[in-house]
Amino acid sequence: MNPPLPEMLACASAARLNAHAPYSKFAVGACLRSGSGKLYMGCNCENASYPLGTCAETAAIAAMVQAGEREIQDILVLGGSLDRGTDAGLVTPCGGCRQRIQEFGHAGTRIHAAGFDAGGKAGIQRTFTLSELLPFAFGLGE
Ligand code: THU
Repeated sequence: MNPPLPEMLACASAARLNAHAPYSKFAVGACLRSGSGKLYMGCNCENASYPLGTCAETAAIAAMVQAGEREIQDILVLGGSLDRGTDAGLVTPCGGCRQRIQEFGHAGTRIHAAGFDAGGKAGIQRTFTLSELLPFAFGLGE
């Protein structure tokens, strides 16, 4: 079954509105589709002690795990500056989040990088497989 991309985009966009990003002013929402087909969301949550901030993908993964699921089929990430709104360029998961996706994904897990056009409209810019973003990924082979 194809992922419900418009719905995932809307969910990531709604999650992004709750981002706590007072330091970077860069708000991110993520929506993943689990093995069961359910959607789980997350947003970034920064901290005055900067390294403690967490990414949107991490939050979405935690929501999925909390619900008892362990498989990611697709994940959509929507990022954009709160100041400028639009021109963030391509927002792909950071290195740490790629490894977190790898924990519950597989080589073909799709990662949809979404952003805003000049008019402020959200849309998917590019889709990658996890193996494209994290080749030769580390795993314990279980
Ligand atoms: N961030 C995410 O939440 N996900 C990404 O894929 C890229 C970066 C967050 C971390 C930090 O709160 C802000 O964006 C700026 O780096």
